[in-house]
Amino acid sequence: MFDKSSSSVSVSSPTGSTSSVVNFPFPSFLSSTSGSSSWFYTTLAIVASLLVLEQTVYRYKKRHLPGPKWTIPIIGQFADSLSPTLENYKSQWASGALSAVSVFNIFIVIASTNDYARKIMNSPTFAEPCLVQSAKQVLLPENWRVLRIAHTLVFLSGKSHVEYRRGLNSLFTRKALGMYVAIQDLIARQHFAKWLAASAANSKPQVIMWVARDLNMETSLRVFCGNHIPDHAFKEISDKYWAITAALELVNFPLALPGTKVWKAIQARKVALKWLALAARNSKAAMAAGREPECMLDEWVRDLSDPNYKGRSEFSDHEMSMVLFSFLFASQDAMSSGLIYGFQHLADNPDILAKVREEQEKVRGGNYDKPITLEMMDQMPYLKAFVKESLRVKPPVTMVPYTALKAFPIAEDYTVPAGAMVIPSVYPSLHDEAVFPESEKLMPERWLDEKSLANQNPKNYLVFGSGPHKCIGIEYATMNIALVLANAAVLMNWEHHRTPDSDEVQMIATIFPKDGCYLKFTPRV
Ligand code: HEM
Repeated sequence: MFDKSSSSVSVSSPTGSTSSVVNFPFPSFLSSTSGSSSWFYTTLAIVASLLVLEQTVYRYKKRHLPGPKWTIPIIGQFADSLSPTLENYKSQWASGALSAVSVFNIFIVIASTNDYARKIMNSPTFAEPCLVQSAKQVLLPENWRVLRIAHTLVFLSGKSHVEYRRGLNSLFTRKALGMYVAIQDLIARQHFAKWLAASAANSKPQVIMWVARDLNMETSLRVFCGNHIPDHAFKEISDKYWAITAALELVNFPLALPGTKVWKAIQARKVALKWLALAARNSKAAMAAGREPECMLDEWVRDLSDPNYKGRSEFSDHEMSMVLFSFLFASQDAMSSGLIYGFQHLADNPDILAKVREEQEKVRGGNYDKPITLEMMDQMPYLKAFVKESLRVKPPVTMVPYTALKAFPIAEDYTVPAGAMVIPSVYPSLHDEAVFPESEKLMPERWLDEKSLANQNPKNYLVFGSGPHKCIGIEYATMNIALVLANAAVLMNWEHHRTPDSDEVQMIATIFPKDGCYLKFTPRV
């Protein structure tokens, strides 16, 4: 009956001759053949079973949610996640309040409505932020896994998150922000001088993507570390940091092999941590020597040494460097995106720029050499409304990946499976026509009328998230973007060289104009 040597199925005909009715080489474990073909068929059978299992599990998890009926074996929608576009996300959001995809067998539920987005962000027992898949690798996984001490606030949850966050809140008080504003003002002016010199030396408009990133990096590092690291450290961190941005895809190739994006990002992180730990050591020495705080680290070291300080007061240099690095990680791309779109929006809307300048003139009385202070910023409601609106129209963070810690009954008819990625989308809430009529239009006035739909629906303003993990740097970030644009508005003119890609969006961790934003700067006074 079974012809062992051929591994095919044969039957005897009534005439007694033997014919092969199914001349298909069946897996050899059925015919107990040994040797290499046996391995081949065994492997084939296992792979086939795994592929069937993969599809079954995917369809079981997806249930009735919109999304591909079948997932591409092993990689799923990996190709799409490599080059994400806002248009693709928009059609995903339009496909349903909840929809599903799978990438490298990571099952992903995408939530598009405001209710679902806030539900995910405000259900810490069911879901916690996981950022993108590579984030834990880049943010030093050995600490994360082994010690469970999260110098990276975002990965903590529950009581330990609340306590840890409380300790860091003192770094963003009004008093602390007052110290930072002076640093921010100084660095912005230094960079504008360089931008103007470069513009004068070149008749063509220049892409501001890179110079704006450098400005943000130096501002952040000076605010965090003051003069506790040398100038060349800023340059080295800034140059290497792009590797970290480039690794922030929703899902990366799973192994951090040499040469991969995640591997390069890890090398960049090592460089940054080395300098930040040095800054922590120098800051401790400066504070011990009785010097006045000049940066965030100094403020932190001094707080910790206060005898009335409640909470953990000992942090190693390495731990402090991790906290600062997580701030850099959380802010560099988002701040750059916010700033670049700020410049582009002002250039494309001369009427709004004119109002920003009018307000500056009123508050600063034409004395633009005098550094901006927090008190001055308090008198600039139009500028603040512009920044808020610019971030709404082009939110740097369009969605925030979370992980379901356990089965998460998000809707009456759907439960997100434990371990799935569940993504609250920010963009649709910020472009909801019911709250922001003509939602694509930049209208700072929306925020100036207390009774406006925008002000009556703060739940829709998800630019900085919601719930226990809501951005800790909101005041700092909005103040910095506002301050840079305020100084730019009075010190420089800039012309936007529009290209077919100016209004197209490039998604690299955050969002940027696809052409990088070509501007030509000239001095204003
Ligand atoms: C325009 C700039 C920024 C934007 C759009 C932004 C946006 C966000 C968003 C959407 C979240 C997640 C919130 C959630 O899960 O509900 C977040 C968290 C966070 N952000 Fe920001 N951010 C910005 C700047 C900054 C800055 C300047 C810092 C620090 C200096 C910072 C530090 C953090 C931290 C530490 C978290 C995690 C908080 C936690 O888990 O408790 N961000 N941010």
